[in-house]
Amino acid sequence: MVTAEADSGGHTDNRPAIALFPTILSLATRLSERFGYGTTPFVGLAGGISTPAAAAAAFAMGAAYVMTGSINQACVESGASDEVRAMLAQARQADVTMAPAADMFEMGVTVQVLKRGTMFPMRAAKLYELYRSCGSLDEIPPTEREKLEKTLFRAPLADIWAETRDYFMKREPRQVQRSEHDPKHRMALVFRWYLGQAAHWAKDGEPSRRIDYQVWCGPAMGAFNEWATGSILESPSRRKVVTIALNILFGACVISRANFLRLQGVNLPADAMATQPLELTEIKEYLR
Ligand SMILES: Cc1cc2nc3c(=O)[nH]c(=O)nc-3n(C[C@H](O)[C@H](O)[C@H](O)COP(=O)(O)O)c2cc1C
Repeated sequence: MVTAEADSGGHTDNRPAIALFPTILSLATRLSERFGYGTTPFVGLAGGISTPAAAAAAFAMGAAYVMTGSINQACVESGASDEVRAMLAQARQADVTMAPAADMFEMGVTVQVLKRGTMFPMRAAKLYELYRSCGSLDEIPPTEREKLEKTLFRAPLADIWAETRDYFMKREPRQVQRSEHDPKHRMALVFRWYLGQAAHWAKDGEPSRRIDYQVWCGPAMGAFNEWATGSILESPSRRKVVTIALNILFGACVISRANFLRLQGVNLPADAMATQPLELTEIKEYLR
């Protein structure tokens, strides 16, 4: 089984699903022939799937299965704070952007995050810019350093380093040893403190750090919100993973069937492809 992951929340290279999927599917077929696999690997699609139409399109391209990510985080089961789920429920497609990743910060790797209602992407990008242009924390221009200490870190950088040092001494002392003779590495660890904390503040709904929330999110969230407007799934308090997943799959069946009929010349009414989110009990009624 292989999942082709198009433009998604979190780590992504932002490829459009419609361009990526046929390439990965044909690669699976070619490799299967070349190595003589008994069965061609199943290829699923993730990234940007949050509506029945998107799932129907994935299956029409030959996807064996679909996966969702961003919309799950907006569900009550996700463990994300109420604040974050409310922010996600407000997101539109253009409300996402790429920001430096905590895990591969030094390499310039980015993750897709929410930008509406938080300054995290801008602040994280500023840290990466300083990391690129300065050789150590001491080389940061005093006005910039003052701004960082006042707004992002809300503490002297020396204190943040002391806290970071304690953290790594317990978990990975090699990082501390390296930073003793590599001041740029020390700067990276201090900056990564902010990136890491920003995800925790979001998850926990830390009220004093709302402006710094790091929330992984892709454009699928905006597409979902548009579909859910005025329905039982509009309020974040009513978003449940099973209800959403079944609605997407059920709606994809409705769209696919309507398309089969149209292709056979059946004249369907304009609302034949309407897929308003339904209660689970209503879906079960249809499936009986
Ligand atoms: C909050 C969040 C956390 C994720 N964590 C991981 C992870 O740890 N490992 C991974 O392979 N993918 C991870 N992903 C990617 C998802 O598994 C999924 O492939 C992707 O979100 C699908 O695209 P979508 O966000 O457009 O629905 C994460 C996505 C989100 C939104």
